[in-house]
Amino acid sequence: MSVILAIETSCDETAVAVVKQEPNSAPAVLSSAISSQINIHALTGGVVPERAAREHTAVISPMVKQVMETAAVKPGDIDAIAVTVGPGLMPALVVGVTAARTLAYAWDKPLIPIHHIEGHIYSALFSQTTHYSLLTTHFPALALIVSGGHTLLIEVKDHLQYKVLGTTRDDAAGEAFDKVARLLGLPYPGGPALSKLAESGDPTRFNFTRPMLRSGDLDFSFSGLKTEVLYKTRELGDMSQKTKADISAGFQTAVVESLTGKVKQALGKSSYAVLILAGGVAANQLLRAKMEQVATNHGMPLLNAPRELCGDNAVMIGFTASYAWQAGRKANWQEIDAT
Ligand code: KG4
Ligand code: ZN
Repeated sequence: MSVILAIETSCDETAVAVVKQEPNSAPAVLSSAISSQINIHALTGGVVPERAAREHTAVISPMVKQVMETAAVKPGDIDAIAVTVGPGLMPALVVGVTAARTLAYAWDKPLIPIHHIEGHIYSALFSQTTHYSLLTTHFPALALIVSGGHTLLIEVKDHLQYKVLGTTRDDAAGEAFDKVARLLGLPYPGGPALSKLAESGDPTRFNFTRPMLRSGDLDFSFSGLKTEVLYKTRELGDMSQKTKADISAGFQTAVVESLTGKVKQALGKSSYAVLILAGGVAANQLLRAKMEQVATNHGMPLLNAPRELCGDNAVMIGFTASYAWQAGRKANWQEIDAT
């Protein structure tokens, strides 16, 4: 059995959770809190790392107190403290890591360092089943992790065993959504706003390039597509709301087809038990629907992170840590650092 306090501060959400795992069962969330900085970063149209760090610092201690009270756990009930050590914005990561190290020192507890991306992977593993035994049939899995900072195709061989098959050569998928949204005058973060606008658009009016589908590897690239949209908006000049919606729909379709195209190519190279979709962009309705189609065509289940766990959160860090703890991953307060 394990009771884990989990902390995540890699970008613009401060998140804390308590996750408990009983023998032979899936981890359960005792309490969880997220403090988003979206309103602050909307003022600058993007995340300023130092500003993010200041906000994490302001809220982290009361959040730890509140989450532990809600979970009705005292320091003595906690087996370990899990924390995202990277990747992320360095000043932001350091706040969570320092908080975790301080608590580990004060309470004499071990730490469990967690990679942010494995957290996203685990957010999806718990989407469709909470039954522990079913989890053993989930491997090998093919995971598409799409967020503001990452676009990754990963083979998950077994619990905690990952092999990166492909990544982006430039912008991440979410970053491309955010930048194109900005070109269209939409508010930060652009992804949700752009996909909402795309609902009323015609995806066939602008036929943007589907990047990298003939690259011969499993990498992605989105900066060329972003530039293509930039040139198109310059050419069009003053755009009606309808034109903006059509551009949004055309761009979204190009990104989604580029992502799912690579997933299909990976499925052609090797066989997998399940498909995993997670990360902030996994909240995108079109991407979810197209990934569902790919999974159905290959006769395999799609494990899609539940919407509330697509963005950054500490529950996914606690889930991962429950397995990492069983596997013996632990460190003392001096042994971990933000990376
Ligand atoms: O995972 P996440 O919360 O933070 C990172 O680790 O980066 O992902 C945030 C990203 C942002 O780029 C945001 O615009 C994008 O996810 N996003 C979306 C949607 N919802 C969030 N992109 C496209 N469609 C959406 N519905
Ligand atoms: Zn993330």
